[in-house]
Amino acid sequence: MKRMLLALVLMLAGCDESMDGQNRFHTYDAAGSVQAWPGPSEELPLVPGTVPQGQAAHDAALSTPPPASDALLARGQQRYGIYCAPCHGVDGTGSGIIVARGFPKPESFSSPDLRAADSARLMRAISQGSGRMYGFAEELEPRDRWSIIAYIRALQLADSRSGR
Ligand code: HEC
Repeated sequence: MKRMLLALVLMLAGCDESMDGQNRFHTYDAAGSVQAWPGPSEELPLVPGTVPQGQAAHDAALSTPPPASDALLARGQQRYGIYCAPCHGVDGTGSGIIVARGFPKPESFSSPDLRAADSARLMRAISQGSGRMYGFAEELEPRDRWSIIAYIRALQLADSRSGR
């Protein structure tokens, strides 16, 4: 019994080799004393010409609108309702619930300015934000961003027909 206890104590002692105590690099520290490290930081610099996996497909999806369809428009209406309507309003005039609580009112999508805006400008606003509006790159896949743009076009068309 005593021997077993001793073995157990020794085994447990072996587990105390804390990883905190080991030599290691800290990602963004200066390379310091490391000789011949390729960059000033301990994070290895990317090899020139490196393209992250999937980046080319992502770029293509951002620059090429998917073909218009009822399904795309329906998706756009749904995503718009979730992500944009709280500020821009269900009708796109800027009368959302967040604006009613004091957030600055965006201009209507049917303003001459935004009616004339090309898709690249709308895509930039959705992806990176614009002025006081934050971007939605994290929340919306490129295809979803295009679906919202299609829906904004539909709102603009409906407004021009109703003369709003
Ligand atoms: C939290 C409120 C808020 C949300 C949510 C929001 N916006 Fe905005 N948006 C604004 C405001 C405010 C402006 C005007 C920016 C300014 O004047 O600072 C704006 C401006 C814009 C513009 C005009 C950009 C330009 O080039 O002039 C577009 C397009 C736009 N928003 C689209 C969207 C879309 C699409 C969504 C949903 C994916 C969205 N916004 C979600 C508040 C919001």
